[in-house]
Amino acid sequence: MATPRFIQLHREDSAALRRELISGLLAAPATVSPKFLYDALGSRLFDAITELPEYYPTRTERGILDVHAAAMARQIGPGRTLIDLGAGSGEKAARLFDVMRPVRYVAVDISVEYLRQALDSLQRQHPRIEMVGVGADFSSSLELPPEAGGGERLLFYPGSSIGNFTPEQALRFLRQARSVGGPGGALLIGVDLVKAKSVLELAYDDPLQVTAAFNLNLLRRLDALLGCDARIEDFAHVALFNEAESRIEMHLQARRALTLRWPGGERRLAEGERIHTENSYKYTVEGFDRLLRQAGYARTACWTDERRWFAVFLAS
Ligand code: AVI
Repeated sequence: MATPRFIQLHREDSAALRRELISGLLAAPATVSPKFLYDALGSRLFDAITELPEYYPTRTERGILDVHAAAMARQIGPGRTLIDLGAGSGEKAARLFDVMRPVRYVAVDISVEYLRQALDSLQRQHPRIEMVGVGADFSSSLELPPEAGGGERLLFYPGSSIGNFTPEQALRFLRQARSVGGPGGALLIGVDLVKAKSVLELAYDDPLQVTAAFNLNLLRRLDALLGCDARIEDFAHVALFNEAESRIEMHLQARRALTLRWPGGERRLAEGERIHTENSYKYTVEGFDRLLRQAGYARTACWTDERRWFAVFLAS
């Protein structure tokens, strides 16, 4: 049986993270990158969100993959290197192994430590697939180590995480994906679609308040990284669909006038003022197809669920 290999490319630079946080907090409006939502607790809260009845993307995407994976596999062909971007437990990609029959599985996530357990257990279940875990932050630039291997590559980017980029960042990411894929490379990507505002807003503001906890947990991150004195009870979770921008926005709204203080600086917030914490863009099938073609993909195919709430694109 092969044993998984692990490569850590990305090292967390806490001074750079602090600088990034401070410049966002001092901006108008105050903004904090959504990457700060994912500490250990934030990642577990996100996993809980995916179980909520109101949060349809994960379940809808899984349904599309279950129904259409064989058709996708016919277009993709066996024997590829499957590169899983934001792999986590690897569970989504593993569901495709039997039908896609990759020769190599490259799981990429911010920290290789998240991948060790998952890959060790996947390797036992799939001894013939070569497995590589890569710790990399591909949100700013998508690069892979030589251990990711050559051959025909299939990049897998599920979960509609592309929606957390601005359309400009998304285009840059897709161009990089095309170049990392190499000649004959393909991309299988999940995209959340525009739908009724009421459905969207409930998915990001659930009655159990799990998404609120996920958003408010960012304040603990501010405390830990900046040594600032943010109090969770001073903020409210706000999620709204901005129709003009076609995106769900998440904010933390100050319940009263307050000042966030950290060594060497401060940010005053008036009552009702917000810190913008995340965008989640929603596309039309036509709009995302256009973006793929702009990024240089010549052939695209798309599968959706019956309600057309979510789409999985295959681009090559
Ligand atoms: C990770 N990402 C695709 C999620 C989304 O739907 O934009 C993050 C999330 N934010 C609130 N709920 C889920």
